[in-house]
Amino acid sequence: MHHPVDSGELEAGIRAAVESLRGATTVAVLTGAGISAESGLATFRGAGGLWEGQRVEDVATPFAFRRDPALVWRFYHQRRAALRAARPNPGHYALARLERHFGAPRFTLITQNVDGLHQVAGSERVLEIHGSLRRTRCTRCGQVREQGTEPLPELPHCPACGGLLRPDVVWFHEPLPERVWAEAESATTRCSVFLVVGTSAVVYPAAGLIETARLAGAVVIESNLVPSAAGHLVDIGLYGPAGQVLPRLVTEVWGPA
Ligand code: OAD
Repeated sequence: MHHPVDSGELEAGIRAAVESLRGATTVAVLTGAGISAESGLATFRGAGGLWEGQRVEDVATPFAFRRDPALVWRFYHQRRAALRAARPNPGHYALARLERHFGAPRFTLITQNVDGLHQVAGSERVLEIHGSLRRTRCTRCGQVREQGTEPLPELPHCPACGGLLRPDVVWFHEPLPERVWAEAESATTRCSVFLVVGTSAVVYPAAGLIETARLAGAVVIESNLVPSAAGHLVDIGLYGPAGQVLPRLVTEVWGPA
């Protein structure tokens, strides 16, 4: 789908967003797969998306893993391989800069992404509400391991107890990691500006944070190619590639990096 971007509208949006950020006391950001699109990683929905031609139930549920762990691991091995070649893009770096400007208690980055690119770009505190492809978790003893992006055996097993390992990501029908989610909700309720980047805003409870922010009185800014499902909750829409829009925004507020 092609949406023309009205450059006049984008300019006006950037001016309004600059004003909001200048006056902001606390900022929370929610990112989705769109911020990593310009790093060459596929998003989930739409043409060429990861879920195209793939039933979610076949690869991203606990039932699928019990039925056919090798099939599920094949999907995750491919995604981990894609990560090996991926580098952060200017959108990730702009958000890292935003964190450095506001400092830890005043800034929170919440991500639905499991690619770890925010951390590679220098973001220090990242709330990964859907887990990470760079970690495994033992299905028997529960031990979580940092695995980076190096290839893993077809069916990896736990060096401690011999149990089958799984990716440390959240699957459909699974709860979000409790403590991380509680921090995300609390930061969302406290922020004066809530910036939503590159998410279709259809997967809950993550998408519900946008409404939470709005109800708590935050200015909601959306950076996306097109308005998301939460478009009606947005005060300022910045419709264009996040890898271009976010660096411009941050540069206009604090000067060139
Ligand atoms: P989606 O694939 O649903 O949405 C990606 C969004 O990014 C869309 O709204 C695009 O318009 C936008 N987009 C694409 N390229 C962009 C660019 N260069 N700049 C700005 N925006 C761009 O991905 P998510 O919303 O992240 O969950 O998906 C949410 C969750 O659904 C994922 O975390 C995953 C998935 O199932 C789990 O696996 C639990």
